[in-house]
Amino acid sequence: MSDLVIDCKKLGKSYQDGKAQVEVLKGVDLKIKQGEMLAIVGSSGSGKSTLLHILGTLDTASSGTVTIKGVEVAKLSRAKQAEFRNQHMGFIYQFHHLLMEFTALENVAMPLLIRGMSAKQAEPEALAMLQRVGLEKRASHKPSELSGGERQRVAIARALVTKPALVLADEPTGNLDKHNAINIYELLAELNHQLNTSFVVVTHDLELAEKLGRSVQLDDGVIAEVSHA
Ligand SMILES: Nc1ncnc2c1ncn2[C@@H]1O[C@H](COP(=O)(O)OP(=O)(O)OP(=O)(O)O)[C@@H](O)[C@H]1O
Ligand SMILES: [Mg+2]
Repeated sequence: MSDLVIDCKKLGKSYQDGKAQVEVLKGVDLKIKQGEMLAIVGSSGSGKSTLLHILGTLDTASSGTVTIKGVEVAKLSRAKQAEFRNQHMGFIYQFHHLLMEFTALENVAMPLLIRGMSAKQAEPEALAMLQRVGLEKRASHKPSELSGGERQRVAIARALVTKPALVLADEPTGNLDKHNAINIYELLAELNHQLNTSFVVVTHDLELAEKLGRSVQLDDGVIAEVSHA
């Protein structure tokens, strides 16, 4: 069994823009080991979110393959992909995608309920994760009653509550002040230490990228390793 959590080969993605074909990804090769923390950097529009969505089975590639924990995910049915995500992955979106009708606590508990846990079991775990992102006092608030940074932290708690093997995060600290950004980084590092969680983090924050250890840059549709001198 390989120790790769992600093995992505010759990944291509194009969009039809009227008559023109726009090639966003032009053969991305990327291997990520279990327990590795990787930053993806690149200019706006370079395809970072597109790549992350494909890695997370939320979008499909035009060519190439994505293997996650030994499974070629594009070959699974939609239902099996959803189950695979719930079992193995946490996703932190660029925009939080919280359920507006539910409280912070209910939003964070949701992935556990989907796994079949009872509300009675799920809520203390959700509350502990809210506490970890500094929001236990906001547990009963709905997203409309939270600030942008607070919503982002709820979304982070929701992605981590199942303690997944792989977390894909799109600008997780984009809306946060320095103190909260450092707290989130420490939370990621702690899960990485305790549970060997792998993280793939899209970020414009070069300080965060450096802390994560390994960085790659997406430029003109392909990936290049970045060395932190
Ligand atoms: N559904 C779509 N149809 C057509 N073009 C798209 C679609 N989604 C994304 N694109 C294009 O693909 C390119 C990459 O978009 P993407 O969102 O992946 O960039 P990004 O690197 O995440 O940028 P940012 O840093 O601004 O979030 C952009 O030029 C965008 O316009
Ligand atoms: Mg993006």
